Amino acid sequence: MTTPLVIDTDTAQDDCVALLVGLLDPAADLRAITMVAGNVGFDQQVRNAFVTLSAAGRLGEVPVHLGCRRPLVRPWVSAENVHGDGSGGLSMDASGLEPEPEHAVDALVRLAAENPGELSIVAIGPLTNIAAALAKDPGFARNVGSLYVMGGSNNGRGNITAAAEFNFYVDPEAAKAVFAAGFDVTVVPWDPLTLRQAVFDQERLDVIAALGTPLSDFFGRVCAATLEFDRRVGIDGTTHPDSLTAAVLLHPELVRRSARYHVDVETAGELTRGYSAMSWGVHGLAANATVIEEIDSEGFFALLVEVLSRRTVPTREITGL
Ligand code: RIB
Ligand code: CA
Repeated sequence: MTTPLVIDTDTAQDDCVALLVGLLDPAADLRAITMVAGNVGFDQQVRNAFVTLSAAGRLGEVPVHLGCRRPLVRPWVSAENVHGDGSGGLSMDASGLEPEPEHAVDALVRLAAENPGELSIVAIGPLTNIAAALAKDPGFARNVGSLYVMGGSNNGRGNITAAAEFNFYVDPEAAKAVFAAGFDVTVVPWDPLTLRQAVFDQERLDVIAALGTPLSDFFGRVCAATLEFDRRVGIDGTTHPDSLTAAVLLHPELVRRSARYHVDVETAGELTRGYSAMSWGVHGLAANATVIEEIDSEGFFALLVEVLSRRTVPTREITGL
């Protein structure tokens, strides 16, 4: 039994790893990739997605739809200082490669409506496309089976500011709308979950490098820039919130503890723009989300090692691999 899903992504670094999980995990039935403005320049993100599809040996097999090129209200905010170009300088002859003509928001609405309650969406970038789909189709939240969001922090520190995690910071209005829409939503937060259980230290990175496969080389390249940044800011390894989000959808047994929270996102504050208020039920607020609090970290790492150990043959030659 496979899980039909769409990955909505601002493809850079761990987004690429999340796409590999969606493309290669036998539990996944990846129906589409939808692109949203986030980490790095939009067209660079699209190139990163195509390179990832090729690295997985699946270029041309999964439709790529272009979505919102900027947040709903605010100007785009880049994380190029963190991720570089998002794929470690990898490149590929992209001649003849075209994204789908259908806009990502239309694709999300259509795919959810075609099989009401069946489709899962893994949203690992700013929530602009998801919020736009809500505006376009009032039935979208009802049609989506489950929504898995990488974003926010659970009463913890931010990453782009002290208060806010990047995905919610870039488009706080979109995030606020999504949590008010009635989705069956599960949240993978930055802090504490990602920082405590989804960071790959040098020992784990050595295990991946020792696989000696094209995908382990690909992993090392796309994560290199962010690893350098992470170590500069006191994180001892590569961070994997996006691939964790895909992994817990496909393998719920990885979740050791979660709880119901009321999640809302700050849109009015200056210091607190994008802050995720996660109330644990003692403030008289009805829960609207399941927040993951603990995972099987070794099991998650083993899952990624299994994916990266696949001896795929890139669909097109990737320069730099
Ligand atoms: O804060 C982490 C999130 O922001 C991840 O999705 C990463 O890809 C960036 O988009
Ligand atoms: Ca992302």
